[in-house]
Amino acid sequence: MSSAPCASLGVRMEDMKKMIETVRNASKAELIALIERGPDPSLLEAADAVRRRYYGERVFFRGLVEFSNYCKNGCYYCGLQRENRDVHRYRLTPDEILACCREGRRRGFHSFVLQSGEDAYYNEGASPLIVDVVARIKREMPECALTLSVGELPSAVYEKLHVAGGDRFLLRHETADAEHYARLHPPELTFASRKRCLYDLKAAGFAVGAGFMVGSPGQTTEHLAEDLLFLKELQPEMVGIGPFIPQAQTCFADAPAGSLERTLSMIALVRLLLPTSMLPSTTALGTLGAGGRERGLRAGANVVMPNLTPLERRKDYMLYDGKIGVDDGVGEGLARMIESVRRAGYEPDFSRGDPVIL
Ligand code: 5AD
Repeated sequence: MSSAPCASLGVRMEDMKKMIETVRNASKAELIALIERGPDPSLLEAADAVRRRYYGERVFFRGLVEFSNYCKNGCYYCGLQRENRDVHRYRLTPDEILACCREGRRRGFHSFVLQSGEDAYYNEGASPLIVDVVARIKREMPECALTLSVGELPSAVYEKLHVAGGDRFLLRHETADAEHYARLHPPELTFASRKRCLYDLKAAGFAVGAGFMVGSPGQTTEHLAEDLLFLKELQPEMVGIGPFIPQAQTCFADAPAGSLERTLSMIALVRLLLPTSMLPSTTALGTLGAGGRERGLRAGANVVMPNLTPLERRKDYMLYDGKIGVDDGVGEGLARMIESVRRAGYEPDFSRGDPVIL
């Protein structure tokens, strides 16, 4: 018995289901083999068919506000690490953050991501300022979804952020291998703590985003397979996947960047592993080369995050070198992103973009 081809592609429903089952039931060794096979057309087409099944042609737009680049951490790969004296540190005031969201709302956005380094000014104390900011945005724009990406915090603060109106929280796990984690981070940062935070966020009621870099220093294919197994266990609503890109002031300045092809394979495999997940086609992917972002979308990604940060701050939020979009005003960047989504064959969507629940 044959079933109808899925959406506009020639992928049959049965083939798609078979691919989902294959990835879902794969052992670590089988995942390694799947990753090493690379982003062949059968993988990419199956991933695209799955995303179309749940989300059609829609690509969800989230307005990104990079509100502080102060960071108390020293992640070895990141340009914002505390040791980097060359960074001009800034933080937007609560009023400025609100103004960025208003501007986004005016342009049609219904979903915002507030991202920062781990900045004690906003996150610490008896009643952290970031909780107020969340409450203010939600009071003014209750129809919008609010995502936080502000790092590891005590579970009590996560609870306050959720009560104040935070809907989602992005906290990449970076690598699910404790030893590899230790190669990328100073000793006070551990995978155990990162994992605990992700489960605390779930318990607090957030839709959770995990994720990792592809090609980070010391990463093996086995580590990537472990990342997939960790995602299968955590079942996050969102997964951020982008290539590692070296930053000149870090100790990994001379390390090679992650590969575009491998990043595409990982996006496609995660689309099959977590069919309804929200997967951004990241700025880092776009930075790797022309058409990177479009290829991410065609590999199963269904989210983009145009930057709403004031132009004069953009160049100070450099996690890695060569980051694209730092010279674009909000309107220009947005127009470019809309154009890129259409070029890839999809339709921009400015709704809240909640994940489908099966
Ligand atoms: N290359 C690519 N991604 C990076 N990030 C931090 N530094 C780099 C880099 N050099 C990613 C991390 C972090 C997210 C905010 O940015 O995965 O979680």
